[in-house]
Amino acid sequence: MRRKVIAGNWKMNKLPNEAIEFIDSLAKLVKDTKNEVIICAPYTDLFYVLLQAQGTNIKVGAQNMHFEDSGAYTGEVSGEMLKAIGVEYVIIGHSERRQYFNETDETVNKKIKAAFKHGLKPIVCVGETLEQREQGLANDIIRTQTKLALDGLSKDEVKNTIIAYEPIWAIGTGKTATSEDANNSIKEIRNEIEKNYGKDVAAEVIIQYGGSVKSKNAKELFETSDIDGGLVGGASLDPEEFSKIVNYDK
Ligand code: 13P
Repeated sequence: MRRKVIAGNWKMNKLPNEAIEFIDSLAKLVKDTKNEVIICAPYTDLFYVLLQAQGTNIKVGAQNMHFEDSGAYTGEVSGEMLKAIGVEYVIIGHSERRQYFNETDETVNKKIKAAFKHGLKPIVCVGETLEQREQGLANDIIRTQTKLALDGLSKDEVKNTIIAYEPIWAIGTGKTATSEDANNSIKEIRNEIEKNYGKDVAAEVIIQYGGSVKSKNAKELFETSDIDGGLVGGASLDPEEFSKIVNYDK
C-alpha cells in the first residue's frame, strides 16, 4: 500500500514570522495523522521552518534548486546548500518555473539527478495546458514529460521520486480536474513508469494531484485508486484549511 503524501507549496508567500506561526499552528493540528506532511517554503523561510518543525511530523522542502553544486550562478541555490541546512524535499519543474523561468525537460532532468546526488527527494511536476488538453494531447504531454524527467535514473531513484500531476488549467483557478479525470491522468503517468522501469517501480511510486485542492475536494480526490495525495498551493497558506486536507481521512 502506498502512503499518502500531502505537500504544501507556499510559492512566493510568507515572511519568516508568518512561517514560524504557521508551523506552530499546523504542528498541533496534524500531529496524529499517518499521512506524510511536507511544507515547501521560499528559501528565506527555510531555516526558520526547519527549526520550528523540529520534533514534529512536518517535513520541509524547497521549491527549486540549481543543478550545479556551486559556482558563478548569481542568485541560484544548489542542492548541496539545501541539504546542508537539513532540507529533505525539493519541488522540481513546477509549471510556473517552466512557464516564467525557462525550465525545460532537460533542466528538470539535470535537477532531479543533482537532487539525488545530494540526498534530496524530488517532487517533480508534470501537467498539460488547457490548449493541449483541448487538442487531445494531454496524455502524450504528461507521458513525455514523465519520461524525460526520469531519464537515466535508477529504479531505486524512480521509486523515491514523488510526481505531482498538476494540469496547468487547474492551478490557482478554482477549477479542479474531476477525481476521475485526475485519476486517469495519473494512471497514464504510472503506465509510462511501468513501461520504462517495470511493474514493481510503478506500483510504488507516489503520484500526487495538484490544482485547486481544497478541504472540500481532498477526500474525493485522494480516495481514488491512483492519487496518492496532493500538492497544494493556495489552500496551504492557512494552517486550519491545510490541516483539513492532511486529515481528509479522519
Ligand atoms: P493551487 O492549489 O493554488 O491551485 O496551486 C497548485 C500548485 O501549483 C501547487 O504546486
